[in-house]
Amino acid sequence: MSELQGRKIVLGVTGGIAAYKAAELVRLLGKAGAEVHVVLTEGGARFVTAVTFQALSGNPVWSDLWDPRMANNMAHIDLGRDADAILVAPATADFIARLAHGLADDLLTTLCLARDVPLIVAPAMNRQMWEAGPTRRNLALIRGDGVTVFGPGAGDQACGEVGMGRMLEAEEVLESLEGFFVPKSLAGRKVVMTAGPTFEAIDPVRGITNISSGKMGYALARACVQAGAEVVLVSGDVALPVPLGVRRVAAASAQAMRTAVVDALPGADVFIGVAAVADYRPASYAAHKIKKSDEEMSIPLVPNPDILAEVAARADAPFCVGFAAESRNLDDYAETKRRRKKLPLLVGNLVSDGMGGDENSVVLFDDEGRHPLPRAGKAVVARGIVNHLAAMLAARRG
Ligand code: CTP
Repeated sequence: MSELQGRKIVLGVTGGIAAYKAAELVRLLGKAGAEVHVVLTEGGARFVTAVTFQALSGNPVWSDLWDPRMANNMAHIDLGRDADAILVAPATADFIARLAHGLADDLLTTLCLARDVPLIVAPAMNRQMWEAGPTRRNLALIRGDGVTVFGPGAGDQACGEVGMGRMLEAEEVLESLEGFFVPKSLAGRKVVMTAGPTFEAIDPVRGITNISSGKMGYALARACVQAGAEVVLVSGDVALPVPLGVRRVAAASAQAMRTAVVDALPGADVFIGVAAVADYRPASYAAHKIKKSDEEMSIPLVPNPDILAEVAARADAPFCVGFAAESRNLDDYAETKRRRKKLPLLVGNLVSDGMGGDENSVVLFDDEGRHPLPRAGKAVVARGIVNHLAAMLAARRG
């Protein structure tokens, strides 16, 4: 379930070309279960009409400070009253300037001034406008007032320039907004993780790998970053988008993964091994493609480093979390693995329950015993794991 389910969002749309992205954003917010009320400025209405926003949100669109449709004629107060947040996307340089100085000369600025709910802006402007002194100063002012700023991103701009200032894509704004509502239980923590399969090359075209999709690891990386952590995700070869805000380091083989983990470890508070690391690799690598013959053939294998066990054994070990995918005897194997690798926390699941799919049902093992989480989508399971992890970290600190 999305963090946005049942939330009421007031979406302010100001006059920039990125207003077209706001239309898609309304659709995505609705799909995520949010109730959206659009406030369209005069400038915004020059780019996208109220009809579009009304059709997409299923709610009346508000533009006029003097709109008589609100029974008490106080749209500027009522609209924001029971909202979970006011999000202005796109927010032009002019709108940000007016916000910074407390102007209240139209419905949206008045609503922002008269609110007691969180305010978020997603700036959208040309590169020079973004870099201009007044914009810098105004951003510092609104940040100082507690306004959250999403983006902007860099890239091609409508004016033909390339640089900072373009509004985040609708999906990125949605993702950021979901993250905004997640409690920041890992704020200030650095998390290093592994995810996905490893690939142990035999020759230039062949190798030993496994069926790990990386979905659980990526969902967990996302849940950690949404909980406020800095996340380095050392990842095997998977076809998944990198969660917003996560630093991904590609590492195909177990040895490459180990090197990348060691490099990322300084300053880490937590290490989570989600990757399905191959226990063995071919003893030698054939530089050229091995040719077929009628002979029987065997490939000698040598053990790979156990990344998790190695990290957990360090004198300066961070809090280590392991995963165990078993095909049977889950409790027994998982708890044995946890003790052998000296882990405070291990997440166990049956291969048949989770590997490759979108759902998972896991059991958490720690010194207190076993804690099963309800079967759910991997995003929800990931959130459950983060909650448990954050509680354990807080207890240690306390
Ligand atoms: N792991 C690791 N490096 C390895 C093997 C495993 O970091 N070379 C980590 C995994 O990321 C996971 C945990 O160790 O968090 C458990 O992995 P698993 O392969 O299930 O454990 P093994 O110790 O290899 O036990 P077995 O394969 O015998 O079940």
